[in-house]
Amino acid sequence: MKKVIVQNILDSMSIGLIVVDAKGEIIATNPAASSILGYEQKEIRSKRWAELFLETRENEAFNQILVDVVMGERTGMHQEVPYLTPAGQRLQLSITSSFLHDRQQIVGLVMLIDDITELYRLHQEEKRALEERHRLQHERAVSLNHFAMSVAHQIRNPLMSLGGFLNRIFKNIDQQEPYAAYIVPIMNGMKRLEAIVTAVEEYTSISHPEKTPVLLGEIVDQVRLDLDMKAAALNKRIAWSIQLSANDVSLDYSLFAKALTELLVNALESFTSEEGHIEIVTEREGQDLMIEIRDSGAGIKEEYQPFIFDPFFTTKATGVGMGLSKVKRIIAEQNGKIQVQSSQGSGTKVNISLPIGP
Ligand SMILES: Nc1ncnc2c1ncn2[C@@H]1O[C@H](COP(=O)(O)OP(=O)(O)O)[C@@H](O)[C@H]1O
Ligand SMILES: [Mg+2]
Repeated sequence: MKKVIVQNILDSMSIGLIVVDAKGEIIATNPAASSILGYEQKEIRSKRWAELFLETRENEAFNQILVDVVMGERTGMHQEVPYLTPAGQRLQLSITSSFLHDRQQIVGLVMLIDDITELYRLHQEEKRALEERHRLQHERAVSLNHFAMSVAHQIRNPLMSLGGFLNRIFKNIDQQEPYAAYIVPIMNGMKRLEAIVTAVEEYTSISHPEKTPVLLGEIVDQVRLDLDMKAAALNKRIAWSIQLSANDVSLDYSLFAKALTELLVNALESFTSEEGHIEIVTEREGQDLMIEIRDSGAGIKEEYQPFIFDPFFTTKATGVGMGLSKVKRIIAEQNGKIQVQSSQGSGTKVNISLPIGP
């Protein structure tokens, strides 16, 4: 009775089952196994594994499973391998193998075989479609970058000559002349245009990061010196507090320094009095470097917060609004994340997490 039930179960299973004894002889199969592998049931039973499957080179991976199980290396493992049927059909099989024990002795191998060809094909198709989408997105981003770069170059050339002419007029015009008063605002407008062009050129030339081992302390010291000079030019003073608990990391030195500079310039420009406080803390968290920058400046109005990373968004009279766009791109190029938290009147906190290591 028990035997009948077991036989029924084996016969009705959609997963193929093959039992091979220690000599490599196939001692049991079910209909699903022969139908998946492309043999008649009796054809399979009467043969040794080697006679059936070892001939075709295409089935090397499939045969290797048996070899591996025999060598005791891969029992209970789940593997996916290609398989070529005797009729020439290419399949993808999922195989789970284990030892057959009899009184603690290994007497053979059991292999469960599932035909996952259709699933595999769908996965491959999905993967190809995704890769194609990424390729197109990348191509579009690259061409947009080229376009922005050429527009910036094209504007810069006439701007230079206009500036030259205007300077000459400014030097030679009689200051009593009614139109003389227009020259300074025109010059200011041109300076602003030039700053925009420079910012776009800088943004578009952000290159793919090249990581090298660096000392964070060195970068921070260099950027700090630069910032102290900028502060002095604005008649301001920065009170620093710096805590670097992760120092040896792998980063793109120049890109990181650029991003840090932009963030610290924003902090400095937000000071509401002559002196302000900037705090930099770095820490390692698993595979990430966490950086926190806090300032005691004016903070960001809530209604502006959704736009601060947008190109050309600025609340400053002479600002260009490309600083945070550049920072965001630099961080994104390194697969990192950036978050800004701020409230008006109580300063701003910027958190960055950057994957580090090779
Ligand atoms: N630390 C900060 N404190 C206050 N406001 C900030 C800070 N960082 C950024 N902002 C706000 O975000 C805007 C955009 O910054 P950014 O892209 O660097 O452009 P810009 O500095 O040229 O204005 C700023 O004009 C300012 O309103
Ligand atoms: Mg800025």
